[in-house]
Amino acid sequence: MRISFEDKVALVTGAAMGMGFAAARMFAEAGAAVVLSDRDEAALGKAVAGLGAAGHKVLGVTCDVANEAEVVAMVRRTVDTYGRLDAAFNNAGIQIPANNVVEVPDADYERVMAVNLRGVWNCMQAELRQMQAQGSGAIVNCSSIGGLIGNPGLAAYHATKYGVIGMTQSAALENAPRGVRLNAVCPGTIDTPMVARMLKEQPEAMDVIMGKQPNKRLGRPEEVAAAVLFLCSDAASFILGVALPVDGGYTAT
Ligand SMILES: NC(=O)c1ccc[n+]([C@@H]2O[C@H](COP(=O)([O-])OP(=O)(O)OC[C@H]3O[C@@H](n4cnc5c(N)ncnc54)[C@H](O)[C@@H]3O)[C@@H](O)[C@H]2O)c1
Repeated sequence: MRISFEDKVALVTGAAMGMGFAAARMFAEAGAAVVLSDRDEAALGKAVAGLGAAGHKVLGVTCDVANEAEVVAMVRRTVDTYGRLDAAFNNAGIQIPANNVVEVPDADYERVMAVNLRGVWNCMQAELRQMQAQGSGAIVNCSSIGGLIGNPGLAAYHATKYGVIGMTQSAALENAPRGVRLNAVCPGTIDTPMVARMLKEQPEAMDVIMGKQPNKRLGRPEEVAAAVLFLCSDAASFILGVALPVDGGYTAT
């Protein structure tokens, strides 16, 4: 089986680094025209320049997914530039400092909801309008193992990731008859700048994670990207509404 995205158009949010960048690169290598989107304009510029220099068809669009107007403009720009939208990975997300529920500052709660939950919602809504008009398309939303199990100190983050699965599954049922498939990925602990920042602040977390990690290593961004491309491809044509763990067995224990 060869997964090809020749003549297809893919959109990835949070694409400047981490698993978003890995997915954008993999879509491009599989032949897609790729829109990389991120709120970090400088990092996005570098990511797009690198892929462009390697000969890929790429466009960078600065967008904060928490801002609905910017998200609508991002999808419009994608369609104005490449004519359609076949695959979308709604990946942009943030972590907030670990805290007991009673100590989580309101501002942290609001921020993580705005990006991780409302942000995925904004993207899904704008993408679905285009895909419904086409009668085709596939969307993968980024949840987490934090959407499948609890973890002390991370209640607000986990609430967003459980929410992403809920909206993905409901939208998948709505859109199944319209030829549009939606699924979610649930990454375990992946070696990205987000996890590097977390380990810098709490180095002891690595031992805790590895103590429960069946295959005793972090995941690589490309291992999540590969699952995203599979779910967006015709190879997954009968798969919709799943929340796929990509976690080295973490949630199987
Ligand atoms: N790394 C992990 O272990 C892990 C595990 C499970 C789930 N996740 C989820 O995977 C996704 C990507 O994580 P990562 O580790 O690659 O993160 P990262 O911090 O390494 O990269 C995230 C990218 O998203 C961008 N971004 C952040 N907020 C944004 C916003 N409001 N609008 C647009 N872009 C924004 C950042 O600028 C950055 O380029 C997130 O949704 C995260 O919650 C990560």
